[in-house]
Amino acid sequence: MARRAPNAGVYAVSGNIMLKDKTIVICVTGGIAAYKACDLASKLVQAGANVHVIMTRNAAEFVGPLTLRALTGNPVVRSLFDEIREFEIGHVSLSEKTDCLVVAPATLNIIGKVAQGIADDAVSTIISAAKSPVIFAPAMHTSMWNNPITQANVARLKELGYRFVGPDRGPLASGGWGIGRLAPSQEIMYHIETVIAGRGTDLTGYKVVVTSGPTREPIDPVRFLSNPSTGRMGHAVARAAVARGAETLLISGPTSLPPPSGVECVEVNTAAQMFRAVMDAAADADLYVGAAAVADYAPKNASAVKVKKDDASMAHVELEKTPDIIASLAARRRESGDHRLVLVGFAAETDNMVEHARAKLVEKGLDLMVANDVTQPGAGFAVDTNVVTLVRKDGKPTALPKMAKREVADRVLDEALALLRQAGGGSTQPASD
Ligand code: PMT
Repeated sequence: MARRAPNAGVYAVSGNIMLKDKTIVICVTGGIAAYKACDLASKLVQAGANVHVIMTRNAAEFVGPLTLRALTGNPVVRSLFDEIREFEIGHVSLSEKTDCLVVAPATLNIIGKVAQGIADDAVSTIISAAKSPVIFAPAMHTSMWNNPITQANVARLKELGYRFVGPDRGPLASGGWGIGRLAPSQEIMYHIETVIAGRGTDLTGYKVVVTSGPTREPIDPVRFLSNPSTGRMGHAVARAAVARGAETLLISGPTSLPPPSGVECVEVNTAAQMFRAVMDAAADADLYVGAAAVADYAPKNASAVKVKKDDASMAHVELEKTPDIIASLAARRRESGDHRLVLVGFAAETDNMVEHARAKLVEKGLDLMVANDVTQPGAGFAVDTNVVTLVRKDGKPTALPKMAKREVADRVLDEALALLRQAGGGSTQPASD
């Protein structure tokens, strides 16, 4: 099992459709990651947004305001007293027009100022006057991020309804490796889109564990049994959960996808490893979503060395059942008498989908089954869309039309949230929006 840095690669996570004609304000504060605000601004403009930039004096040392002006087509504000007039709208009326304000990169300093109610320059004043949702995308050295004062300020801001994306783990500009990297533009855009779509931080206070991807069951060091899962569905659920405020842990089989920003990720290979990681992580979780395609069988005696192709054992690989992860969670829940953990499974079917999914739901002891017929075009494995039916313990199933996996993720989490509220879990009082 290995922990993996979020966003070790680049892939499209944002839909872009919703950003057309929206007014997005980017507040750039002074750190080496300030240059990345240019990429964010450019991508937002390409998505059709009207982008305004406000910079601190220190940020302007790292990246030229002229660059951001050229990218956005709007004047860049650096001081409350001068350039802001160029907006033709003062900072208060800009805040009226803003659909989302994003602080990227957000330094320890700006997080501290806003948390303590200090407004002594254009950036801190605009954030303090904001009527729109505010997203902080922090970037700083690991030790600064881990500083208890920073963490207390972040916790205070989260409590007050401010959103955070990242920071991510990875190589840092100051050398070394750790938490503190600015989340990639696509991840920041995903969070902006979540705001624009009107999604609140309604999973705040809940711990969510999600499994994703396939498992690989080795026959020998060079061969394994597996399936075509890419992790797109499971990763979409984890991304949506963290954007809605949940403390989110992703346990993923081998995929080429980087984990979403802000999501702790444990990488595993086999069903047995996934079983151990899940049983551990779900002990204090409120919601478990099993989107992984876990192998039901594994070779009983995997060879430690490559088996020769003419070896008779290759034609008759003896299999044994893997542990059923989600059914084990349900059994533990039953035995403990503590029913706060909500269990959501996915069922990959090829025929009689609802019937089979309902049978699995009952057999495994789950609260909700998300059934997908993987033979349908645009559904199931290795596509960006899915066609699912929500099968509940009681009541009629709900068939949803074909939609992007990110939307499926939100629909599943909406349904899970209702179950969470019934179950009464959560460490803090969850937001009601
Ligand atoms: O990753 P993608 O390419 O985006 O594809 C998405 C998907 C098709 C993998 C996903 O939508 C999906 O259907 N995931 C579940 C696939 C599956 O394993 O279905 P199942 O019917 O075999 O299992 C039912 C449930 O039991 C699942 O929640 C599964 O995680 C769980 N299970 C299964 C076996 C096992 N040993 N332990 C388990 O926990």
